[in-house]
Amino acid sequence: MAGMGDIHGFNAMDARSPLSLPRTVALVGLMGAGKSAIGKRLAMRLGLPFVDADDEIERAAGCSIAEIFEKYGEADFRAGERRVISRLLDEPPHVLSTGGGAYIDPETRALMRAKAVTVWLRAELDVLFDRVRKRGHRPLLRNGDPKEVLARLMTQRYPIYAEADVVVDSTAQPADRTTEQVIEALRAHLQTEKTPA
Ligand code: S3P
Repeated sequence: MAGMGDIHGFNAMDARSPLSLPRTVALVGLMGAGKSAIGKRLAMRLGLPFVDADDEIERAAGCSIAEIFEKYGEADFRAGERRVISRLLDEPPHVLSTGGGAYIDPETRALMRAKAVTVWLRAELDVLFDRVRKRGHRPLLRNGDPKEVLARLMTQRYPIYAEADVVVDSTAQPADRTTEQVIEALRAHLQTEKTPA
């Protein structure tokens, strides 16, 4: 006889069992992908702290990211971002939302791949643009037409984000639904880690 949770080969109990994370989950993706919105929900669902790397960088620098770009330039911002993310990755498991360029920096990416489960929130241009158009705090979107900048960054960065452990589409659907999909994708990924090839 099939077990309690086993309905036609699908283990219903398994889908509902709590997911325990062996290490930090780092969310990557372009500006507007929903890293903070999904990250906060994911942290709540997993019972883990939520940390926003950009907020930590601002706290460490004592000024906004726009000011860091203005005063010191992007290269210095990336160096600070690398230091802050490296420190955060040594903290106990949490949900970490990272700025869109963090995973593109080779050193930061190597750290994230070594110490976290990485999740790329992949979104289409119209979804990204719709989310970023309302706020003007992002320095990279201040130089030129924001939609064109996003399109260029998609071409440059999507092949690199694709190296993440887990990929989930971030669409215009409710954030809770996307969060659910992230949890299921994480569950599937962690299962493959447990099962040697
Ligand atoms: C950046 C994304 C921003 C912030 C900085 C640079 C990028 O974070 O780190 O403005 O290079 O894509 P969000 O992705 O959270 O907007």
